[in-house]
Amino acid sequence: MQTNFNESRTKLNLMRAFAGESQSRMRYYLAAVTAQQQFMVGIERMFRFTAEQEEHHAKVFFELLKDAAGEEIPIKADFPADVYTDLQQLLDAAAKGEDKEFSEIYPEFARVAAEEGFTDIGEKFRMIAEIEDKHKHRFQYYADLMRKDMLFRSDDTEEKWMCLNCGHIHTGSEPPQQCPVCAVKQGFYVREPEAPFTSCNIMKA
Ligand SMILES: [Fe+2]
Ligand SMILES: [Fe+2]
Repeated sequence: MQTNFNESRTKLNLMRAFAGESQSRMRYYLAAVTAQQQFMVGIERMFRFTAEQEEHHAKVFFELLKDAAGEEIPIKADFPADVYTDLQQLLDAAAKGEDKEFSEIYPEFARVAAEEGFTDIGEKFRMIAEIEDKHKHRFQYYADLMRKDMLFRSDDTEEKWMCLNCGHIHTGSEPPQQCPVCAVKQGFYVREPEAPFTSCNIMKA
């Protein structure tokens, strides 16, 4: 039997999820601005890309609150004050937050929703948790590269690097300090497979 939505814990969890996603979106947007100020454009784009996904998660949860429209929903929740200018700290904090969402928060919200008979809402929590796991791995990937000072260095002398500004591909163990085509700084370069849409090259038309 389904619990009355307005008396459910799921209603509160949806509002917590909406608040959490809205804040992740804003934290990543601000991290992107910080990265941009440091000319770390690959990291900036990655934060922006992820911020946009969080925005859409927020929208999904917000729309699921339509039956409570007009109400004020009081919630108690913990949110991280990840105020850093250091990109390593920002990446580590983001990975940690995503892990908490994936492994603790959303599984619990999904369990409660299922228990209260909100199967579809439970499924949304479960599916969004899976996305947060992808986010965690994305942040960890860049956090690890940065920690090892490998963001712009590879053991492979045939590594392909793409300039995110003009699309120039450079082959070598490091991308150029300055792009030979459009003159932007090294921070615009990412490994080619990390650049959006590049795997189209290997897909059949
Ligand atoms: Fe999210
Ligand atoms: Fe996320």
